[in-house]
Formats: sequence, structure tokens, C-alpha cells
Amino acid sequence: MIPISKPFIGAEEKQAVQEVMDSGMLVQGPRTAKLEEKFASICDTKFAIATSSGTTALHIALLAHNIGPGDEVITTPFTFMASISSILYTGARPIFVDIDPETFNINPGLIEKAITKNTRAIMPVHLYGYPCDMLSIMDIAKRHNLVVIEDAAQAIGARYDGKSVGSFGTGCFSLYATKNIMSGEGGMITTDDEVYAQQCRMIRNHGMQRRYYHDMLGYNFRMTDLHAAIGVVQVDRLQDFTAKRRLNAEYYSNNILTARVPSVKPGYEHVWHQYTIRLDKGRNRDAAVKQLNEAGVGTGIFYPVPAYAQKPVCDLGYGDITLPVTEEVVKQVISLPVHPLLTQEDREKVVGEVNKL
Ligand SMILES: Cc1ncc(COP(=O)(O)O)c(C=O)c1O
Repeated sequence: MIPISKPFIGAEEKQAVQEVMDSGMLVQGPRTAKLEEKFASICDTKFAIATSSGTTALHIALLAHNIGPGDEVITTPFTFMASISSILYTGARPIFVDIDPETFNINPGLIEKAITKNTRAIMPVHLYGYPCDMLSIMDIAKRHNLVVIEDAAQAIGARYDGKSVGSFGTGCFSLYATKNIMSGEGGMITTDDEVYAQQCRMIRNHGMQRRYYHDMLGYNFRMTDLHAAIGVVQVDRLQDFTAKRRLNAEYYSNNILTARVPSVKPGYEHVWHQYTIRLDKGRNRDAAVKQLNEAGVGTGIFYPVPAYAQKPVCDLGYGDITLPVTEEVVKQVISLPVHPLLTQEDREKVVGEVNKL
């Protein structure tokens, strides 16, 4: 089976972890600081704050903007549940806006209608590694005095209008094992604001600036140096991995004939965390997935259910929402293996099997 994702773990990653173990300095030490420095440099931001996961990065980023009960955060329903859980953890309410059928990202043309007196933030999600229309989103946020928290978990290295994702608003990234670069588990917050960065660091570590003096209620959302050591090695692989993902995506787009392939608008630098085809309305996706899997092609359905229809969200009284584009797309998408370890033989097999559908 050609797997839908495959983490790359080389001799350098193993050596880096071994060195941390030998050093005895296991948690939030020099490797974490190094990873933060390298990450800020990729994202062109002044600060990067490492966290235990992408989910905790989002949670901290919201808390550090003082978002909590009574506040509303506008976001997309076509995302991984963590985007939504992080909002719910703070006591705020996610407000769902439909997606653009071409990019699968939040449709900026629908955001303003969702703004109320309680709206505090917009959380765009750069789904599959395709940047959202950040110029429009930043313009809306500025006019309505809203915070922007970019869920860039899937989009490390993606750029829009010449700028890195995570540098428009507050950026939140994931370094989970299957992401474009990874540290096993891990996350990162990016910002240019020094006071805000310090607030994030405090929330991450029990509300402390000075050891055992707690200025606020915080959490243990720290990254370990074992994870950071892997991340430091992987950051140097980002360019190469991204180039390979782009070649894979280009090959698919040029050769797949039986389904709608993704297109990328000018000014958007996609990093292809996922390569996602869309079947026409009425076609049987379960049968297509079964056929591909039986032929040895791994697939992923990201995501089969709109976030507002997930049980923990439904239970909060979102039962009546139906957003038409999201409702259709969740039934039609299939992601194909696009990771950098694919061979030419793999690519040909994927295309051959997709074209038999
Ligand atoms: C869009 C999105 N947001 C948030 C997350 C959460 O990241 P993590 O798994 O590192 O907690 C993910 C991870 O899959 C994601 O895809």
C-alpha cells in the first residue's frame, strides 16, 4: 500500500535525539530555543513560541488575546476538530462561515455577515497547505477591530502575496508526525508582538516569568527538547520536502482525468500538505475509496463531517446550521498520497488507479 503519509526519520534526527538524552536536559532547553529561532526565521516573524502541540498553540494563542466566555470566533467548519476545540476550551463560541468551493478555505465574502457585537476574532485555516485569502481577511479584521489567529497547522512554508502564513495575524503551526515537517508532537506560535509573545510563554509554563512565582493561571503546554531536536533537523529539510510535494502535485494535476484536481491561484504558494481531488456530485465516494485502497493506494478523507455536525459541537446547539458548499464538499473529497517519499513508480500507480475510477 502506498501510504497517505510517511514521516521521514533520518540518521540526523536519531542522532539529535540521542544527544538530548545524553545531555540530561530533556524539557524546553537549548533545542527548543533553537527551533523557535529557526521557525521565526522561516515565517519572517520576530518571535516563535514552541508548544506541546498545534492544539495547545491555538489554545494559548486565543487565551493570550483574552478570548473567553461571551466572545465569538469566526472560523470554517471544514477543518480538523482541534481548530474548533481550542475555541471551545476558552469558553468562546465558534461561528461557522461557509467555504470557497475552489480553495476549500473560508470564503472571505461571507465573513462580514457573520460579525456581531460579540465577535472578537477570525480564525482562518490554511487547509491542505493552501493559504487563505489573507489580504481580504486582514482588511475585514482591521475594519472591525478583530484579532486574526491563523490556523497554519497544515501550512508550514506556505506563502501568500510574498509573505509567510503565520505572519499576517498570530500564527499557529503543528509539528505532529505527519505534517510537512515534524517533531513527533509539537506546535509553534508566531508573532511580531513582544508583549503578546511573553504572554504566550507564561500561559505555556504555569503562568510563571520567575520560577515559582505565578502571575496568572497557566498550563503545562511546553515542548520537550527530545521533540525539538527532531524539529531542528527537519526545519533544514523543509525546502527539499516542499519542492518534492510540489512536483508530486504537478504530476497528479497534469495526469488525473477522472476527478476535479485542485488549482492554485496566482500569488498563492501552496505546500501540498494534502493533495485532494473532488468527485462530481452523485458519485459514490465509498466505492472509489474502496477501489483505490484495494489497488494499494492509500487515501484520506479530510474531513467527512462539517465541524458544526460533530457531536461535541452539535451538543452545544448548532443543530440547525447547514452551509451548502461545506455540506457538498465533505461528501466528495479524497486525498491522495503526496508526501516527499513517493517514487515515480508510486506516482504512476496513483494516477493509473485514479484514472480507472
Ligand atoms: C487544521 C489543523 N488544526 C489544528 C491541528 C492540531 O495540531 P496537533 O495535532 O499538533 O495538535 C491540526 C492537526 O492535525 C490541523 O490539521
